[in-house]
Amino acid sequence: MKTPTATDIIIFGALGDLSLRKLIPSLYDLEKDNLLPEGSRIICLARQRMKNADYLNKAHQNLEVHVEPERFEAQTLNRLSDRISYIELDFLNAEHYPKLAKALEDKPHQQRIFYYATAAEFFGSISEQLNTHQCITKDCRVVLEKPLGFDRESSTAINFQVAQHFNEAQIYRIDHYLGKETVQNLLALRFANPIFGTQWSESSISHVEITIAECVGIEGRWSYFDKAGQMRDMVQNHLLQLLSLVAMDPPDDLSADSIRDQKVKLLKQLKPITQEMQKHTVVCGQYASGNNDVELLPGYNNEEGAEGNSQTETYVAIRAEISNWRWAGVPFYLRAGKRLARKKTQITVHFKQQPHFIFDPEQRHLASNKLVLSLQPNEGVSLQVQTKSPGINNDIQIQPTVLDLNFNKEFKGIRTPHAYERLLLEIIKGNQYLFVRRDEIEHAWTWCDNIMQHWQSPEHVLHKYPAGSWGPSEAEFIIRKDGRQWSLED
Ligand code: BG6
Repeated sequence: MKTPTATDIIIFGALGDLSLRKLIPSLYDLEKDNLLPEGSRIICLARQRMKNADYLNKAHQNLEVHVEPERFEAQTLNRLSDRISYIELDFLNAEHYPKLAKALEDKPHQQRIFYYATAAEFFGSISEQLNTHQCITKDCRVVLEKPLGFDRESSTAINFQVAQHFNEAQIYRIDHYLGKETVQNLLALRFANPIFGTQWSESSISHVEITIAECVGIEGRWSYFDKAGQMRDMVQNHLLQLLSLVAMDPPDDLSADSIRDQKVKLLKQLKPITQEMQKHTVVCGQYASGNNDVELLPGYNNEEGAEGNSQTETYVAIRAEISNWRWAGVPFYLRAGKRLARKKTQITVHFKQQPHFIFDPEQRHLASNKLVLSLQPNEGVSLQVQTKSPGINNDIQIQPTVLDLNFNKEFKGIRTPHAYERLLLEIIKGNQYLFVRRDEIEHAWTWCDNIMQHWQSPEHVLHKYPAGSWGPSEAEFIIRKDGRQWSLED
């Protein structure tokens, strides 16, 4: 591991939602744990005219809300504030950049991280300005926030523009799901446990489910979301990242390229979904009004900022297949939806039944195992195994029993860092394994574009579902037709 050196973290879009809700609070947490290298500075850039003190005030207000109360304290706040400086900078205006260049020149040998927390369409122009104003150094890094483009073509164009000024080893494409504890645990579970390593294929696994259920709706981001939709907002990135980590072949080591090579190979093996296949394998939905036991919830088209009768999807379910030896014939059921009944992100791996069953034939259906990786809200891993029902009176009756590893209970007292906290630290250290490589993102787009291109056809249907439910009932169909059902563990 490289030793972190004093770093200038330069945030473009420092007044945006992401910066105030995630980045500054994560920097606070790093500060609290003494993980920000000595001498590091945080340079916050945004268009608004604002005094440093006013920016700090705003940052503090957000920290009070977004930092865990038991970790919030004046000492850390003061140390963090001392590092922060605000510069008014319209990132499209060349005349504003000398201010930034001057601030950076004060400490010419600091490592630099340019964090683009802005819309991706500006990444090219910002990179160009940084180059013109000689802010780019040999070992500086640039962080690109998602969504990177709208489709493969726009994503390739953005990657190309940024690549004019930064090489791939300097580029950190964020997918915050890769910073989540359980996602990394997936690597440990798969590759440090022979019991799973040898069973991880079509010979033992019947099917896999990946669910990302959110109970929140659009949260004031209607105009962004309406252009993107759930496929671009959640499936192209977070869901496909989870899928590739679950299904990829073992990497040779933990280096960024070993892991990313395997992910790319897997993404290329995702079977394209043709228009003909869509009827049976893809379901899109949009939430209508509903309730969540506590309150009435508006439909998507009545959310704050909504315009007109939008046909944008807020829910997608897909039955995916992978064309390789390991996964031949194993369906991967994927779904991601907003305003669902509960927040739950979960990967469920279903193992095949015993080929020969010696117990009560009526219990035949129980003879399998299920591995559940729970990402949120509670992180943990559980394995459902069959045991004998206790007692001496019966013949041997089997019953499902759960071997449960709840991280909160097991590792009590050890705090799980937030995804952005971990990712920021890895960027400072220069480790790229939790970031998405250029070819990876482009192959993910190819698979999604292929599905979305059929959505303009008259045959495409957007199914309404009540807010607070588990999504459109039609999504049951794509799994039921294989004789299965979606599972969700509490
Ligand atoms: C973001 C999406 O990337 O992830 C949001 O843009 C979504 O729409 C969020 O709500 C979900 O993240 P998490 O960590 O809460 O699952």
